This record gives sequence, C-alpha cells and structure tokens, in this order.
Amino acid sequence: MTTAKLILDGKEYEFPVIVGSENEVAIDISTLRAKTGAITYDPGYGNTGACQSAITYIDGDQGILRYRGYPIQEIAAKATFVETCYLLIYGELPNAEQLSAFRHQLTYHTLLHEDMKKFFDGYTAQSHPMAIMAAMLTSLSTYYAESDDPDVINLNIIRLLAKAKTLAAFSYKKSIGQPYIYPRNDLSYTADFLHMMFAVPAEQYQVPDVLDRALNLLLILHADHEQNCSTSTVRMVGSSRASLFASIGAGVCALWGPLHGGANQEVIEMLEMIQADGGDYQKYMNLAKDKNSSFRLMGFGHRVYKNFDPRAKILKAAADDVLNALGVQDPLLDIAKNLEEIALKDSFFVERKLYPNVDFYSGIIYRAMGIPVDMFTVLFALGRLPGWIAQWKEMRGDPSTRINRPRQIFTGATERHYKPVSER
Ligand code: ACO
Repeated sequence: MTTAKLILDGKEYEFPVIVGSENEVAIDISTLRAKTGAITYDPGYGNTGACQSAITYIDGDQGILRYRGYPIQEIAAKATFVETCYLLIYGELPNAEQLSAFRHQLTYHTLLHEDMKKFFDGYTAQSHPMAIMAAMLTSLSTYYAESDDPDVINLNIIRLLAKAKTLAAFSYKKSIGQPYIYPRNDLSYTADFLHMMFAVPAEQYQVPDVLDRALNLLLILHADHEQNCSTSTVRMVGSSRASLFASIGAGVCALWGPLHGGANQEVIEMLEMIQADGGDYQKYMNLAKDKNSSFRLMGFGHRVYKNFDPRAKILKAAADDVLNALGVQDPLLDIAKNLEEIALKDSFFVERKLYPNVDFYSGIIYRAMGIPVDMFTVLFALGRLPGWIAQWKEMRGDPSTRINRPRQIFTGATERHYKPVSER
C-alpha cells in the first residue's frame, strides 16, 4: 500500500501513505487543501497524526507501551528514573560513563536562584501547586538565557530536570508553611525530592527505601506517552519557536485538567466520596452510566488503550507491595479494587472498552507515601518532564516542523452589517 485515493465531487485524488516502523499506516494529507480545497474534520484529533516520532510506541489494542523500543515492564522493573530520562531524551540507554556524567549534572543544577524564592511569598497557602509549578517553570526563562545553540538547549534541559523537583518540593513546603529544605548532593534524584518534601530542619530524616523505590517506579511509568494532550500542547507551543521553559510550562497547565493528569487527584476524591457514602458502589456506577449526569468513573477509560493500560497493571501490583511494606491499610484500595471488579463486568464499561488507567491506582500509592492529594498531579508532571523535553527536542530538530495551526469549519453568522444601538 503506497497511495490512498479520495473521490471528492466525482474527482479522484491520490495521496501518499506513510508506514511506521511498527507498520502503523497514515495517509499523508498535507497537500489535501491545496489539491482539493477541503480540509479534514477530526474533533479531538483522534485520527490525526500530527508528527512522526521515534520516542514512544503504544499499541492500545494490545496494551503495549515501549520507550525507545524497550517494553515498559522491563524499564519499570530494572531501570532508574534518571536512566529513563536519558533514554527518552538522548535516544539510547546511557553507558556507565554517560550515566555518571548525567547524574552529576542533574545533581549540580538543583538549586533555585535565591530570588526565585520570593515568588513563593506571593502565593497563598491554598494555592494549587500545579499553578505554582506552571508559573515557576515558565519563570526559569527569566533567569536562564535561551537560544538555538544545542549546548545551551542541553544545559537548559538539565536545569529543568534538576530544578523541577526543587520547585515541586518548595511549593509543597509553602503550602504547609514549613521552611524550604534545600537539595542535597549526596542523594539520588528521587531520594533528594523525598528529602526536600519530608525533612524538617529540627530533625534528621532518612528517606525510606520503600518510598524511594515507589517514587522511582511512579516517575518511570509517567515518563512519556506519545502525543497525549499535554505533550501535544508542548509541541504546539514549541512549534511557534517559544522557549523550552515556556513550552513546558504550557504542558503543565494542560496536564492539570481532570480528564488528563488531574485525574489522579479526582480518583482519590471520588473514592473518598464513595467511602463517605457508605460504599454504595452501584449508585456511582449508575451515575457514571447516566448520560444526564456529568459524573465519570475517574481513572477509567483512555483514548488509546482499549484492552488494558499496562501502567495500571504494574501500579495495581505495586499498590499492594508498597502498602504492605509501609504497613498501611487503606480502605480506599479495597474500594478501588471492588469498583474495578464491578466495572469490568458491567456491559456499559465492557462495550466501551473502559479499563483502569494509570491514574486509578497511582493516587493510592501517593497517599500511602504521605503525599498530599494536591501534589499528585505535580508528581505526574515531574515524571512526564523527560517525555515533554524529548518530544520538544525532537520537534525542534525535525526540519518538517511547521507552526501548528489547525483549520476549522466555520458555523457562525455570514456577513452582516453594523447598526447603531438605537436601531437594534
Ligand atoms: N466513566 C464513564 N463513562 C466513560 C468514561 C468514564 N471514566 N470514560 C469514557 N466513558 C464513556 C463516554 O461517556 C462515552 O460513552 P458514549 O459512547 O455512550 O458517549 C464513551 O465512554 C467514550 O468516551 P469518550 O469521552 O468519547 O472517550 P475519549 O477518548 O474522548 O476520552 C478519557 C478519554 C478523557 C480518558 C475518558 O475516558 C475519561 O474522561 N476518563 C475519566 C478521566 C480520566 O481517568 N482521565 C485520565 C486519562 S489517562 C491520562 O491522561 C494520564
């Protein structure tokens, strides 16, 4: 198959077909409008390939997710988050020397400019940390010059990865009114973040291994997911040649929505609501199925996965392990499991191929780790950062990149003329 034919108004047009390395097929309609005058209509871009990418592969029907060819199960079981960052951004797993240099760079760029701390003073304790993250990450552009020089871009990539966790932890400390804990160079990426979150100046805090491992796993599982809403936002903003920091800040905003990364917070709030209501699952199942209600089973359904979300499978097992290791008994985990069991047998969910997604079990693990609900989506952002960066970098290096500018089918008023207010 090398071409596709389209007949419009009795006239035949031919378009090239592109085949990906996993035999995914796309009709290249980049000349459609010029040739035919017509555009495609695809609300939500469910059938639109906006780019060619060599970073992440998903087969939603088979439940496959691979980073640069490596199955997510292998990466999750064997790699560290820092290795995963390197893999996504630079295309290959690092050798020992590259890994040690990368770790060193990530360790020595963690400090925020002291003036940036003043920004935090302007926020109230109730400010959502996602708003703070978006603003702060964008504000990095006011401290660090940006240019198209690959060395400058690379340095800014390191700064972003290194400073994002400091920003995230500071925004948490701000919200609970505790003093900021500065980064420590003797700790790993994940342990350093947990230390900045949970240490207090008055006492020694040793990061428990179980928390370190759990965070590592969670960040890896969130690290990239090809052209999702926030990643497409990063590419869209970056396509106008906006800076890396600005593009990533926009990605954080897109991630915040409850239908995307904000779902992890919504899942816990939903489970708490069901618990407070006496565990009446059927009531909420019925609500989720009721077309007159806006209630959805949060953490269920996915645009791409129509079989299972491999990340959710890993996290369901991890939830049991982490809670056991921490000695935490959380009734919300039982509620989640019961809800999943009921949903997976319900014809509404079966017919629509709605399965638990990554957000369904992640919140339960965050909760057991002592991470407050408001911070869940911030942790998602921290995990997704290497994916956004890799996609931004790939987009900038692709000579076929054009400013992203979709078209529309106009349905408003046709031309009419202004009348003074007295005549209206
Ligand atoms: N609960 C109840 N019904 C649902 C759910 C749900 N969670 N998800 C989808 N449906 C139904 C829809 O009502 C629709 O039914 P219909 O065909 O009778 O109209 C059908 O399933 C298809 O749903 P769409 O909304 O068209 O699917 P879409 O691909 O546009 O949306 C999304 C995917 C946003 C993830 C959706 O499933 C959803 O809202 N889920 C809950 C929020 C969530 O968990 N988001 C996190 C996604 S993963 C991530 O971003 C990391």
